[in-house]
Amino acid sequence: MSEPSVQSLEATLGAVVTGVDLSSLGEGAWRVIERAFHEHALLIFPGQHLASADQVEFARRFGEIEHVVGDTGFVPISNQREDGSLLEDAHPTMQIMIGNEGWHTDSSYMPLAAKASMLSAHVVPTRGGETEWADMRAAYEVLDDETRRRIAGLAARHSLKHSQAKIGHTEPGDFSYGFADGDPPLRPLVKVHPVTKRPSLFIGRHAYGIPGLDTAESEKLLAELLEQACQPPRTHCHAWQPGDLAVWDNRCVLHRARPYDHGEVRVMVHTRVAGDPASEWAEGLAESA
Ligand code: OGA
Ligand code: MN
Repeated sequence: MSEPSVQSLEATLGAVVTGVDLSSLGEGAWRVIERAFHEHALLIFPGQHLASADQVEFARRFGEIEHVVGDTGFVPISNQREDGSLLEDAHPTMQIMIGNEGWHTDSSYMPLAAKASMLSAHVVPTRGGETEWADMRAAYEVLDDETRRRIAGLAARHSLKHSQAKIGHTEPGDFSYGFADGDPPLRPLVKVHPVTKRPSLFIGRHAYGIPGLDTAESEKLLAELLEQACQPPRTHCHAWQPGDLAVWDNRCVLHRARPYDHGEVRVMVHTRVAGDPASEWAEGLAESA
């Protein structure tokens, strides 16, 4: 069988992968995909139309599945209830999806951050509702020496409770897993990729409270880093077609949902791959979870 075709995007990250059926992936094709994942950090597979169980199977290639909500291995990112009605903006689930419109990492607010995340498109709105990614390897590369020196020893707390409170959301709803009390995980601002060894910025909306800086200084530094990081050519925005699937390396990529009219239906299916405790376990926490 022929190998999948991997076409780099214009941005510093991302590639489009075609010529492969993810529901029946052979070992040779998987090796091509894994290599491309480490090189491009974001892979987009148009027109796969995977059943959610097959999406979970594919995600298993990357590692253990993180059971974000429930034990199916996937979670609908949807503004529609089973009865067809739409969630109002004040609904806790909707508040999480609105929060997703800020640049973020997945599960960095948990003791073990995610290795990779996967999204597939099922129902897409007529306008907006894209997903955008930003390359934190390239963002680190463009920092000047002074900034690199300044952030070298710094770390930040990561909290979903904190980032949601900033947009006025305080009722966890189904998302209690990210609203735990106690000290949020502390993670270095500069992360070395466990496989490629490339350094990258590890920031985003869940990060706050850099120890050693006062609140205003910490907010300013994190906001400035984020603002500079998430600019072309380090960003790629994908306009979804139903059936498309994307997987990205949460260890070196930020992502966000783009706004859309919440009167339209948007249904995505999300699967999250757990990090390796050797590299994704937060500092200053006990070795068990
Ligand atoms: C997520 C997420 C973005 C989107 O599922 O973790 O951030 O475009 N989704 O829905
Ligand atoms: Mn996310």
